[in-house]
Amino acid sequence: MFESYAHLLIITFILWCSKQACAQLLQWKLISEHSLMQPRYGHQAFAFANTTEPAKIFIYGGKQGDGVILNGIIEVDTQTLQVKTMATYPTVIQGKAFAAGTGMEGVYVTFGGINQSFVLVNDLHVLDSKHFPSLFSNENSVIQQSKPYNNVQLFEAFPGVPSIQGMASTIDPNTQVVYFIGGQTDIREQGQLAKYSSCIFGYSILDKTWFLASSSKNCYAQPPEAPGPRAYATAFAYKGNIYYFGGSVIRLNQSIQPEPLINFYNDLWRFNLQTGLWKQLKLSGVQPLPRDGHTATIRGSKVYIFGGRTCQNPEKASNCSIKTLTFLKDLWSLDLENCTLSEHRCSWTEHQAKNSSVGAPVARAFHQAVALQSSSEYEWDDIWIIAGVSSAHDGGILGDIWTLRFPPNPDAPAQVNIMSAADSQNEYIYTAFRLDHLLPINFTNEINAIFKSYLAQLLSNAGIITQEIELVVVKKATSAKNESTLAIYAAIVDLRQTYIAVDTLKSAPLDPLQQLSNVPEITLLQVGSGELGTFEQTLEMEPSHPSSLSVTIIVVIVVVSVLGFVLITAVAAIVFWKMSSKQKTKNANHPTSDDDAQLSKIAHKNTQRLAYSIDRMDTTTIDNNNNIEKDDEIQPAPEHS
Ligand SMILES: *[C@@H]1O[C@H](CO)[C@@H](O)[C@H](O)[C@H]1NC(C)=O
Ligand SMILES: *[C@@H]1O[C@H](CO)[C@@H](O)[C@H](O)[C@H]1NC(C)=O
Ligand SMILES: *[C@@H]1O[C@H](CO)[C@@H](O)[C@H](O)[C@H]1NC(C)=O
Ligand SMILES: *[C@@H]1O[C@H](CO)[C@@H](O)[C@H](O)[C@H]1NC(C)=O
Ligand SMILES: *[C@@H]1O[C@H](CO)[C@@H](O)[C@H](O)[C@H]1NC(C)=O
Ligand SMILES: *[C@@H]1O[C@H](CO)[C@@H](O)[C@H](O)[C@H]1NC(C)=O
Ligand SMILES: *[C@@H]1O[C@H](CO)[C@@H](O)[C@H](O)[C@H]1NC(C)=O
Ligand SMILES: *[C@@H]1O[C@H](CO)[C@@H](O)[C@H](O)[C@H]1NC(C)=O
Repeated sequence: MFESYAHLLIITFILWCSKQACAQLLQWKLISEHSLMQPRYGHQAFAFANTTEPAKIFIYGGKQGDGVILNGIIEVDTQTLQVKTMATYPTVIQGKAFAAGTGMEGVYVTFGGINQSFVLVNDLHVLDSKHFPSLFSNENSVIQQSKPYNNVQLFEAFPGVPSIQGMASTIDPNTQVVYFIGGQTDIREQGQLAKYSSCIFGYSILDKTWFLASSSKNCYAQPPEAPGPRAYATAFAYKGNIYYFGGSVIRLNQSIQPEPLINFYNDLWRFNLQTGLWKQLKLSGVQPLPRDGHTATIRGSKVYIFGGRTCQNPEKASNCSIKTLTFLKDLWSLDLENCTLSEHRCSWTEHQAKNSSVGAPVARAFHQAVALQSSSEYEWDDIWIIAGVSSAHDGGILGDIWTLRFPPNPDAPAQVNIMSAADSQNEYIYTAFRLDHLLPINFTNEINAIFKSYLAQLLSNAGIITQEIELVVVKKATSAKNESTLAIYAAIVDLRQTYIAVDTLKSAPLDPLQQLSNVPEITLLQVGSGELGTFEQTLEMEPSHPSSLSVTIIVVIVVVSVLGFVLITAVAAIVFWKMSSKQKTKNANHPTSDDDAQLSKIAHKNTQRLAYSIDRMDTTTIDNNNNIEKDDEIQPAPEHS
């Protein structure tokens, strides 16, 4: 009976999700309109995280409105939003614009670009956070600049790596090799034709060596079966392949047309790192417009494309007058796992992110996007969008910072630890807490341990023998500054002590817990006993949770319309069964003489399915409790993909 009910709940949830807000699950949040930093475009941005401290975003270089290239590195504390300029040693790191850069696990590599004398350079900077123990402390951090790799300017003379701007870059996490693709190898002056590269250079962080990854050594030529030379494209590595999207080439032929013409691309290519071969992916469905200067941000198994430049007239995207450029603010994703499995499954999805109370980021190009890596499997990241250039603003240069909020990932395991019920005849005591204003970065094992030992101590003080206290599920609702976490702890206690245990937990003083764990706000949501399913139901049915109720109501509607009268009877039976099972639990709370008989009645359960229901339950629970900030509204349903 319970199984069929759970199935219905799952099915109806999916129906409800696809019909309602699922297209609107992402949401913009304005972090700073300006003043955090000087407006800029063509800059670099990257994040360093540390499991105990909030991540920091570093912003480097870029061009100002007057064309001046900015010096130094700015750091933004993602929690306090404090901004400071990093001290660099031995000298201030010379600012660059249109450099390429990427990194992982606290190492960032940036290469090329234009320096402050407007000269193309081939400097390589490797920023390794391991060498900066004070990075997350409040002292000023010092970053060292590597020596320029070499001064070889000659392009064809591989292994000399050229000076280049507008390369796409990505890192293969398995080998820690950074790949730099394409780019423009000279600065286009009035009336000059730019030179574009089609080559892929690899730089191994571990070996500190460069190599040419693409097969053709003539980087200027159009290689067979490969993307042509171009600049300002994006690259993203996933499971042994590098994907390459978009970009542009400026052509000038004054005998035809006095102004330069831009050819924008929206083709998607895949470079197999093992075979060194390119393949163009022919995707079905709607494609993003051709563009350059966009960002591609990998978040889990998906890549998100945001913004860029294109042609006002989409039909002229391959032959666009430089006077008819326009900027984009659209958001697309590609499921790279699907693309790995099969080309037929690989297709673009456009997303409509919900506005914040002050709207959404304006269209832009040459901005930066950073995905914050979460420090544990049950936490997730926002994508930060930083500055850029836009036609829609005075002067066009932006200094704003936004985050793109994601709903809880339905694929992420919600449960940290589910007690195995199959071989246990014991009853569980469940305690649900909501922890507010907690950032994902600091929901640590430490807090978990503090909660567990506090609950164990509490029960032990009341003379209750607990076999085990487990964290059953933890789920977060995110909002740029304040986090809400639902944590459910389960204890196995002797059935005869259930009543006292529940009472003890219900009256648990939360102040000491708050002090011990340093969590600003803790709310005890529910204490229950019996089956996890029963407990979940009581949380769902709380009158203060309208969206949970709407799910429940839809269960009935779907049952009536699809399955008719027979199932109404079934539902009635389920409801009756639920009520009787609740009755059972209630009885179990009181010490009775036939405890042993009660014990044997506790049904075994399918932990998988229960975990799923809990997942739904706590998502909606948090949604409705998290009314800290209107702007921070969290959408109830998981991202639909
Ligand atoms: C820019 O690079 C060129 C060539 O390497 C160099 O001569 C010049 O001093 C650099 N300018 C700055 C401001 O670093
Ligand atoms: C994070 O940074 C802080 C402050 O620099 C340091 O004390 C701590 O050890 C770091 N944690 C990890 C896991 O590296
Ligand atoms: C410019 O256009 C003319 C006329 O189509 C053509 O003959 C010439 O080759 C073009 N020049 C270049 C550099 O493409
Ligand atoms: C590109 O546009 C120019 C004028 O805007 C036109 O003269 C030229 O024929 C076009 N070329 C192609 C290949 O469409
Ligand atoms: C991934 O593939 C599955 C199975 O074909 C499909 O249901 C799903 O929609 C795909 N995801 C995306 C984002 O295209
Ligand atoms: C979102 O905000 C933008 C301005 O930032 C506005 O143009 C747009 O109409 C808004 N969309 C909705 C659905 O409110
Ligand atoms: C986060 O929570 C704290 C503590 O309740 C509150 O003072 C602050 O205004 C909140 N910040 C946001 C952005 O809601
Ligand atoms: C989480 O981070 C906030 C902000 O730094 C801090 O006030 C709080 O004490 C941290 N919580 C824990 C448990 O470390």
